[in-house]
Amino acid sequence: MTSTHPGRCPVAHGFDVFADAYYRDPALHLAAARDDTPVFWYERLHGWVVTRREDALRVLGDWQAFSSAANTAAEVPDEHRAVFPPELVSHMIVGQDPPEHTETRRVAQRGFLKGRMDRLQPEIEARAHRIVDRFEDNGSGNIVEDYCLELTTQTIMALLDLDRAREPMLRQVRDDLFVVLSSAHEDITEDDRLAIWDRFVAANLELREIIESRRGSEADDLISVLASARDADGTWSLDTARIGLHIAEFAAAGTDTTAQAMANAILFLSRDTDTLRDALAEPELWSRVFEETVRRRPSSTFTSRRATADVEIGGVTIPAGDMIHVALSSANTDPAHRERPFEFDIHRPDPTDHLAFSTGRHTCLGNPLARVQGPTGLRVLFERLPSLRPDEPVELDFRRTALVPIRRNLRVSWDTADVRRSRARTARTLDLDVLAREQVADGVVALTLGHPDGGDLPRWKPGAHLDLHLPGADGPLVRQYSLSSDPEDRTTYRIGVLREPDGRGGSAAAHHLVPGSTVTTSWPRNNFRLAPADRYVFVAGGIGITPILPMIAEAERAGARWELVYGGRSRSSMAFLDELAAHGDKVTLVPQDEAGRIDVPGLLGTARRGTLVYACGPEPLLRAVERTTAGWPKGSLRLERFAPKPVERAEPDTPFQVECAASGTVVDVGADETLLDAAANAGLPVLSSCQEGTCGTCETRVLAGRADHRDSILSAAEHEAGDTMMICVSRAARGCPRLVLDL
Ligand code: FES
Repeated sequence: MTSTHPGRCPVAHGFDVFADAYYRDPALHLAAARDDTPVFWYERLHGWVVTRREDALRVLGDWQAFSSAANTAAEVPDEHRAVFPPELVSHMIVGQDPPEHTETRRVAQRGFLKGRMDRLQPEIEARAHRIVDRFEDNGSGNIVEDYCLELTTQTIMALLDLDRAREPMLRQVRDDLFVVLSSAHEDITEDDRLAIWDRFVAANLELREIIESRRGSEADDLISVLASARDADGTWSLDTARIGLHIAEFAAAGTDTTAQAMANAILFLSRDTDTLRDALAEPELWSRVFEETVRRRPSSTFTSRRATADVEIGGVTIPAGDMIHVALSSANTDPAHRERPFEFDIHRPDPTDHLAFSTGRHTCLGNPLARVQGPTGLRVLFERLPSLRPDEPVELDFRRTALVPIRRNLRVSWDTADVRRSRARTARTLDLDVLAREQVADGVVALTLGHPDGGDLPRWKPGAHLDLHLPGADGPLVRQYSLSSDPEDRTTYRIGVLREPDGRGGSAAAHHLVPGSTVTTSWPRNNFRLAPADRYVFVAGGIGITPILPMIAEAERAGARWELVYGGRSRSSMAFLDELAAHGDKVTLVPQDEAGRIDVPGLLGTARRGTLVYACGPEPLLRAVERTTAGWPKGSLRLERFAPKPVERAEPDTPFQVECAASGTVVDVGADETLLDAAANAGLPVLSSCQEGTCGTCETRVLAGRADHRDSILSAAEHEAGDTMMICVSRAARGCPRLVLDL
């Protein structure tokens, strides 16, 4: 290696920040150098590399001897110097020394206080679920782009309170900042560099306008906090250009670094599935997974300082003015401080004893956010997609900026069969605002619900319903209502609610919801899916029209032939007639006071191949439909019941045993208790809602044995297949004393 700094030695032969080995495992690559030359000159970074923890602590702990002021080596192109003077770059937080740094931290830290970040956790979790919801059915993807970076970017957008129109700008700033600042990147031409500066400066000007508009605001978003801080004399603490620069720093540091940590954790967990299993069973362990990930592989491999005077470190004399790059990843795996330093072990006695967030005055400002967002993001991802693993071989697709290597692509795959299972296990709820309430028939209101921040709601398919958590006289009530809107509308849900005067209070409570109220709901669940077919016959009675409306829209979109017969007591009791009128003679209305009951035998008496029948309504109508279609091809009929299907049992129930494969326990179910109750009493994490076999909340996979299905949800074919059961009502079949369930 030739040095342009004569006399700078030792050098570490074989160390190369652009080599694959460095991107594969920076700590291992550095270890080879550390053993021989703990402090060495590295020409490509124009500075000294310090690898041992002891030396790293010394450099990071002494801001007077090791200044941060030269940390920002950006060269501003001439044409941008008027609006972006080179000295502005020196005001970046990473490039400040006291007293300026102390003052900036004082203001900026308010936006990242630990308590505030902890309070953001539910919001981050809900956001993570919304993102997984977009891609969970794909089975594969680039998890960095699809999830990790998406989550961290949306969170920083929310912290800055930027609306969606600003999103492209913020994403660009995020992607450009490390390149703008980094003097060592391999794949950027001069033309690219100039183009990046053009964009970066334009984005900064846009940010400055936003900052100006928030001067004096009392809002607690990060921009307002910085823009409204005043000094003792009443003047603004920070000028607009500097705040713009800090926002750019937050956009990059607050997104890529945590996203990289999540991607790295996915890789570590793929090689340590015992840890993954433990964390899924004990959610508190996700914080340890995150800490051990950033210890073993910090997102920033290095942090840099400049020697303010000649100094000796690790036996090497460093001249005043030279740059020093502290190798955080090497310090974190220094065998002098850490046993088994390269092992991924989440049970280390002090999981936070590492330098991933640096230390001293420049401890990462956003570490409280990273420590909430990283573990939450990982937990949600694996709870939703427990079989997610990286595709082998893992590609080394990095943006090769030496100090902060950014993985752009981590291809992963998962078993989509697991998605549904994990869904049933996860008690996910949404807090939605009631946006509109409309009387759509006698005793029927349509409620339109939306997310308080106006963002996208979880996706759903025709036939899906929501559980509404409603207040009741004797405690909370949970009631199911079908979604009746268009699944293509991502921002609102609509449900129709019939007030039942003799009901148990659920429909009355739902009728009390008015615009401005908030209601807790489940995520959409679907027990009444619309299967593809050439032709459909839809039969609806009363409020049973609600799930049929989106099915009609879907059949139209798919170009299928369809007809609907819709019955009700009277025309005025039948909801959504105006919407149905648009479909002309495909819809037959049968108000009982004008035309009597639906002629089910006339409608369905002759079996038709390639036709599926979907029916929802009161029990007598559904029984008539079931009887009439008994001779149709198997699987032609799909029903949704309001209440459990009446069953007659000749013999009393008997006890049986359930082997719970996921938890490794065995549960005895008595003759007079449900499997759900027995499992809950044994401390297993079971969910339930209706407890009468109509909602699907308690659905559990059957791994072995035969179930006696008593639910009103699964089709006859699904009962026969026996892969899944509703444990609130169903039991082991006679002659099958032991079931094995995925519990
Ligand atoms: Fe509703 Fe079991 S709890 S089906």
